[in-house]
Amino acid sequence: MRNDIETILLTEEQIQEKVKELSAILREEYKDKDPLFVGVLKGVVMFYADMVREADYPCQMDFMCISSYGSGTTSGKMVVKKDISADIKGRHVVILEDIFDTGNSLDFTYKYLMSKEPASLKICTLLDKPERRNPAVTLVPDYVGFTIPNAFVVGYGLDYDEHYRNLPYIGILKPEVYTK
Ligand code: IMP
Ligand code: MG
Repeated sequence: MRNDIETILLTEEQIQEKVKELSAILREEYKDKDPLFVGVLKGVVMFYADMVREADYPCQMDFMCISSYGSGTTSGKMVVKKDISADIKGRHVVILEDIFDTGNSLDFTYKYLMSKEPASLKICTLLDKPERRNPAVTLVPDYVGFTIPNAFVVGYGLDYDEHYRNLPYIGILKPEVYTK
């Protein structure tokens, strides 16, 4: 798999350091609020597991899965494939995401969860790729790990054609991998 990676953008050590930084910020905000961490599957799995393990205070875990229908990720038409199981009315909720790219999926997820009337709703994303943002998306993530350039990245949960999610680091794929 390493042969398919052109450059390692973020090493395992850099990611783990960032997880500690972000979770320290979240701890200050949420340690007495029994927050619900909502992970958006599947890309977030690694980040999610690392973040909740750092949360040394009462919290709960839940997941949702959304997908876009039509062609590509820019169609903007989203559907909930798996909903959260908790009732979030009056709860403090934090959405954990792998990447804020066009912003379409988080925009949808945010509005969807807001309709369930949480006490608060914030977004914590490991990666932000602002160059790719859909201009119609005005939502801004509350907590960002790394702002990255406009390149397609894989690893640490992120996939290309469902592969490379298991890499412990984040890398840029070699262009020939797409054209194989
Ligand atoms: P959105 O474009 O912000 O709606 O992001 C939709 C989804 O596309 C993300 O949750 C990721 O699963 C996926 N995605 C966006 N950019 C990348 C990337 O560089 N590598 C792998 N997956 C990506
Ligand atoms: Mg994906």
